[in-house]
Amino acid sequence: MKPLGAVTRGTTNPNRLRRVDNFIAYRCRDLLADAAVPLVVDLGFGATPVTAVELQARLAAAVRADVAVVGLEIDPVRVADAQQSAAPPLLQFRRGGFELAGLRPVVVRAMNVLRQYAEDEVADAWRTMTATGAFLVEGTCDELGRIATWACVDASGPRTLTLSARLSDLDHPATFAERLPKALIHHNVPGEPVHELLRALVKAWDASAGPFGRRQRWLAAVQRMRDEGWPVRDGRARWRLGELTVPWPARRP
Ligand SMILES: C[S@@+](CC[C@H](N)C(=O)[O-])C[C@H]1O[C@@H](n2cnc3c(N)ncnc32)[C@H](O)[C@@H]1O
Repeated sequence: MKPLGAVTRGTTNPNRLRRVDNFIAYRCRDLLADAAVPLVVDLGFGATPVTAVELQARLAAAVRADVAVVGLEIDPVRVADAQQSAAPPLLQFRRGGFELAGLRPVVVRAMNVLRQYAEDEVADAWRTMTATGAFLVEGTCDELGRIATWACVDASGPRTLTLSARLSDLDHPATFAERLPKALIHHNVPGEPVHELLRALVKAWDASAGPFGRRQRWLAAVQRMRDEGWPVRDGRARWRLGELTVPWPARRP
């Protein structure tokens, strides 16, 4: 089968995806622990396979030692170059696209892949990947991974949105607007749920200025949002990492 998708820029960096990897270890722990075959696909690993290598090492250390990661790339040259980093059976690199090369992973991580597609291609890509039964974590981050956002998607559609930032580098949460997942980035306009969400976060941040550092300010801002009735997920242990997860903020089509 011809891999579904198109070759795009391969920009990546060591440690770029550490924030999302930490989240996957938390959010997908039970899914992976209960799976007969704890297979994870890293879709679109890029010009070098470094973030796929890191994903396998992190999940093996934090969740279960036999987690296997298959890095899929639509660019055959990148697949060939990655072979020197392979360590089968727990770490392999193959050619594949949104159809996931016939694999049936428990989890798919697809970071900085869909941002280079048109918005109207996102729903199909999500559907194709989650039709395999996989839980999909799909999003966007800056080049060094200091600011990131991602969607959790299953076969019934998008479930949650997570905003995540290295708090020591976060000047203002308005910055999240530039790094929203493709499905939301063009919807950050008045009247849209994602715009309301970012506006509430900015307001809570501005109202939480105080003598303490950015971590305390972030914690206070997230708590303020919850107190105002925003359905913020998880608790302080996640919030203090610079994370905020809410139900998917978009109207159902
Ligand atoms: C910007 S890189 C992202 C690398 C890495 N995931 C990261 O976040 O640092 C995007 C990669 O996705 C690949 N890609 C794009 N569409 C794809 C698809 N449908 N299936 C597999 N790989 C794809 C591109 O060829 C490119 O190498």
